[in-house]
Amino acid sequence: MAGNSIGKEFVATSFGESHGRIVGIIIDGCPSGLELAEADIQAEVDRRIPKQPKIVSGRIEKDKVQILSGVFNGFTTGAPITITVANKDLNSSDYEAMKDLPRPGHADYTARVKYGGFNDYRGGGRFSGRITVALVMAGAVAKKLLNLFQVDVFAYAKAIGNVKLDKSLDYEVVRSRRFTTSVRCPDEECAAKMEKAIIEARTEGDSLGGIVEIIAANVPTGIGEPLFDALDADLAKILFSLPAVKGVEFGAGFKAATLKGSQNNDAYQLLDGRVISSTNNHGGVLGGISSGMPIVIRIAIKPTPSIAKEQQTVALSTMENATLKVVGRHDPCIVPKAVPAAESAAAITLADHMIRAGYIPKVLKEQK
Ligand SMILES: Cc1cc2nc3c(=O)[nH]c(=O)nc-3n(C[C@H](O)[C@H](O)[C@H](O)COP(=O)(O)O)c2cc1C
Repeated sequence: MAGNSIGKEFVATSFGESHGRIVGIIIDGCPSGLELAEADIQAEVDRRIPKQPKIVSGRIEKDKVQILSGVFNGFTTGAPITITVANKDLNSSDYEAMKDLPRPGHADYTARVKYGGFNDYRGGGRFSGRITVALVMAGAVAKKLLNLFQVDVFAYAKAIGNVKLDKSLDYEVVRSRRFTTSVRCPDEECAAKMEKAIIEARTEGDSLGGIVEIIAANVPTGIGEPLFDALDADLAKILFSLPAVKGVEFGAGFKAATLKGSQNNDAYQLLDGRVISSTNNHGGVLGGISSGMPIVIRIAIKPTPSIAKEQQTVALSTMENATLKVVGRHDPCIVPKAVPAAESAAAITLADHMIRAGYIPKVLKEQK
């Protein structure tokens, strides 16, 4: 299956299926000399799934991270790094009926056509949100690398269904509080409303979507390779690769289309000898190159396709119209789990571009 690798210098290759033996990632091109332990990656994986059982799928994998290659004596060697977790909490029988009755909104039908029915459909196979655990593992390595150069990437839930966080919060508040609520919204009052909305949708046998905002702070000016490897293009590519992402916007995004140039342009000014802009409608990228302002991206997440309500579908074996009520364990809203996946995805692409631009050397330090 082509299309499983991303990046040019920091290349992450994803493997595994939802109900197969393992899910993992191979990172090729990580500089040598990065201090890296399983515990670093485990910490990111542990916060992938919110602890509030009412807002997540009943499938709770007790993921134990294993680094199988590329790390020696506690440091990356420069060789490919293989990181895995095992799949254990499986209910594959839930998917037998769906083999014939493709779920509306999921990839069951398109995957069946593309792979002639040989794809592993159990748990959604390669098209499951479970696959994002591999991105979180690669993201943990990318974040460690970026942090050495003071680049910080963090995301939070900005909206769930019709509940929106309208307050603008200080980035430090977002960074430090984003994982303190189950829905990953740093504002407790708004988070409580979001949680309530998810529980209500679930009770009705339905699901909700929402918006995740991603911020990358302290990205140096001048990162990005236009035309086709523009920084915003590559960030959009990895974010659109996350299952259920239906929109990506930078800065003012689609709203910019309604503004006048005089309103949308971000005026430059000097601050301690540095060129900054007084506003950030451009979202930190101009001409595909980082401007030095925070990179601000929002992604739209659709409502979870697998819902308990009855839906119309087609029985593929008989080619007759049919109805389907999806059984099994599903997230009533993908947004809380998408927060760590989105920040990891953005970190992978930023690490790749910082290596390409020469900001991160291939050898981080010499062995004594
Ligand atoms: C973290 C995460 C968890 C997900 N959980 C579910 C789920 O429980 N049930 C479901 O039907 N879809 C879930 N999805 C969404 C599907 O994987 C996705 O909608 C499907 O692969 C079709 O891809 P598309 O929506 O990008 O077109 C999840 C996605 C992510 C990122």
